[in-house]
Amino acid sequence: MNKKLKYFIETWGCQMNEEDSEKLSGGLKPLGHERTDKKEEADVIVYNTCCVRENAEQKVEGNLGALKKLKKEKPETVIAITGCMMQQEGMAEGIIKKFPYVDIIIGTHNAYKFNEYLSRALGGERPIVEVWNKEDDIIEGQPIDRASSIKGFVTIMYGCNNFCTYCIVPHVRGRERSRQPEQIENEIRAMVKEGYKEITLLGQNVNSYGKGLEPEINFAQLLRRINKIEGLERVKFMTSHPKDLSDEVIEAIAECDKLCECIHLPVQSGSSRILKKMNRHYDREQYVELIRKIKERIPNVALTTDIIVGFPGETEEDFEETLSLVKEVEYDSAFTFLYSKRKGTPADLMLDQVPEEAKKARFNRLVEAVNEISAKKNKAYDQKVVEVLVEGLSKNDDSKLAGRTRTGKLVNFAGNKENIGKLVNVKIIKAQSFSLVGEEV
Ligand code: SAH
Ligand code: SF4
Ligand code: F3S
Repeated sequence: MNKKLKYFIETWGCQMNEEDSEKLSGGLKPLGHERTDKKEEADVIVYNTCCVRENAEQKVEGNLGALKKLKKEKPETVIAITGCMMQQEGMAEGIIKKFPYVDIIIGTHNAYKFNEYLSRALGGERPIVEVWNKEDDIIEGQPIDRASSIKGFVTIMYGCNNFCTYCIVPHVRGRERSRQPEQIENEIRAMVKEGYKEITLLGQNVNSYGKGLEPEINFAQLLRRINKIEGLERVKFMTSHPKDLSDEVIEAIAECDKLCECIHLPVQSGSSRILKKMNRHYDREQYVELIRKIKERIPNVALTTDIIVGFPGETEEDFEETLSLVKEVEYDSAFTFLYSKRKGTPADLMLDQVPEEAKKARFNRLVEAVNEISAKKNKAYDQKVVEVLVEGLSKNDDSKLAGRTRTGKLVNFAGNKENIGKLVNVKIIKAQSFSLVGEEV
């Protein structure tokens, strides 16, 4: 590959995918290729896909369809697709039939070989369809081109072993495997040297970090080690599975200065009956007890969650239990999803699917309740002084700055531009439903 190319990457899905895209870009940049945000001028177009819900797949298909014209005008453009959607059985073959102008299809397990596939495609071998059906060992040392120079993701474990009955992730991301703590620490140290202030540790279930590693280590121990890294200011992590969030982890957050007081703790449903059908391994009472413990040890904690509405068999009563749980816990925010059937998951075969209309009506009621609580939670920040990591200019008003509190709240504020990348104190002068407004003090 001697020619310098322009590449465009679009990413759907979760932070895992975002990090994978940062690695794709990290592999291309050192070869002299240049990233562009304009599809039309790109020599290489990469779609990094998600399949967690049906609408995620629809978006990808819509975008692929739209490339037909571009490919006709510029046939030399390389179109590549990777990510979770491609990892599903039979998907790659289906895609190539439907969109014959696609040049490269690879799965999540072999995405790290992207450069190799690209040079083959540039050499004239098209299409290349190669989806490995098994995860490889963890690949260390891949270059990464992070989206931000202030905060960044660090994956600590790959895959998932939980097999919640609605979820496709374990099918497309493979089994759980953890990185060696030294590798994680080295990566973070290198980031701190470059000026990073905040890291978010990533994994589908970070609380089961360390299983199978020699010498033994668990997530709480990893957190304490990371907390010792000099120059690092903030550590966040996601996602925590309620069944595995140990007292030791809660203790670590309470005691370690860099560990931020925010926990994303997906509940999925407030009904014990539904939780059982979801294979979540906790019931409402256990979840509520966990929340009580967290609030007791970390009084100013911000709690966020994921909720699925309309899982098969969910009755009005079950849904009412979800609503009442949301009100009881008082989440700072919640991601709410309409249940979506996924091929190959047990819930797809359950006979008692909830009619679309009932799902949507419940969904709207839930969103209303969630938003009301978010607004109330934000109100509590009014007139308070908070620590903000300044990430850049405000999106809506570039005379202002934007950043986040330790608890993850977005703050738009008047302040000194020289402080971008630094921690500053900001007085909140207005609390809105989804963000805070303030001024630097
Ligand atoms: N590993 C994380 C999240 C994985 S996917 C966890 O265990 O919490 C992110 C969220 O998507 C899930 O928390 C769930 O709320 C939602 N989700 C997953 N599968 C879904 C499906 N089939 N339909 C609707 N929402 C789904
Ligand atoms: Fe999916 Fe459950 Fe694994 Fe999360 S824990 S990725 S919801 S199977
Ligand atoms: Fe989607 Fe894969 Fe993440 S299915 S949510 S991109 S792990």
